[in-house]
Amino acid sequence: MRKKVIALVLTSALLMAAAGCGNTGTQSSGGQTENTQPAVENTTAAADDAQEDTQNEEQTTGDVIGTAEGTAAVPEETEDGSHILVAYFSWADNAVTDENVDAVSSPSVTAPGNVQELAGWVQEETGGDLFSIRVTDPYPSDWDACLERANDERGEDARPQLQENVENLDHYDTVFLGYPNWWYGVPMALLSFLEENDLSGKQVYLFCSHGTGGLADSVDIIEEAAPAAEISDNIFDCYEEDVHSSREEILSWVEGLGY
Ligand SMILES: Cc1cc2nc3c(=O)[nH]c(=O)nc-3n(C[C@H](O)[C@H](O)[C@H](O)COP(=O)(O)O)c2cc1C
Repeated sequence: MRKKVIALVLTSALLMAAAGCGNTGTQSSGGQTENTQPAVENTTAAADDAQEDTQNEEQTTGDVIGTAEGTAAVPEETEDGSHILVAYFSWADNAVTDENVDAVSSPSVTAPGNVQELAGWVQEETGGDLFSIRVTDPYPSDWDACLERANDERGEDARPQLQENVENLDHYDTVFLGYPNWWYGVPMALLSFLEENDLSGKQVYLFCSHGTGGLADSVDIIEEAAPAAEISDNIFDCYEEDVHSSREEILSWVEGLGY
C-alpha cells in the first residue's frame, strides 16, 4: 500500500514539461497540468524488447571506464587537444540483476538506460571517455521498490557508496554529466559522485532525461554540490519516451557547443 501511495504521490506531483528533447538556456519548469507516471507506462513492445536484452550491458558506442574492470589509466585526448569525460548515472547500470525481474512493470531498468543511451551518443560525438556512476548496493529492479528506496535516500540526504571514482580526474578539463530526474532532483549517488570527484574549474555540460517533471530542481542541486565548477546553462534535456529517437538532437547539441 505504501508503495502505491509513493508512486501515486510522485505521479501526481510531477510538473508537466514539454515532451521532446532539446537544449535550454534556462531550467525547464513546466506548467501544471495532469501527469503520467514516468517510464512505467512504456508498453508491452518495450517490455518484449527488454526481455531480450541483457541487463547492465555496457554501452556499445564507446569504452566505458568506471566498470568493474577498472578505469582507463590515461584519458584519451580529443582532436582539439581537450580531455573530455562523459560521466553519467542511469538506473539500468544500477539495478539488481535478477532474471525474475518483471520487465513489464520495469521496462526502463533494462539496458540501455535512457541516460546511458544519451551518454553513448555524447561520447560518440566528443570522443571522450565514458564513466558510469555505479553504486555498490544496486537499486531494486522493481519500479515501485526503486521509487521507495530513492525517496528514502532523498529523505535521509544519503550519499550512496560508489563502486569507484574517476582516475586521473585532473587530466579532464571538460565534463559532460548525465543523469535522470529522480524525485524532482537527482539520484543521491550523483551527489556522492560530485563530492568525491571535484569538478572545480572544469567546464561542465549537463544532460538529463526525465518524465513529465522536466529538469525540476536538478540543476540547482548540482550547482550547489559543485559550486566551483563552470556549469553551462546550455543544458540538454529529453523526455524519457523520446530518448531513443533523439540521437540527432543530442549530436547537434554537442556540435553546437563546439565539440
Ligand atoms: C526512482 C525514480 C524517480 C523518478 N522521479 C522522477 C521525477 O520526479 N520526475 C520525472 O520527470 N521523472 C522521474 N523519473 C523518471 C526518470 O527520470 C526517467 O524515466 C529517465 O528517463 C530515466 O533515465 P534512466 O533510464 O537512464 O535511469 C524517476 C525515475 C525513477 C526510477
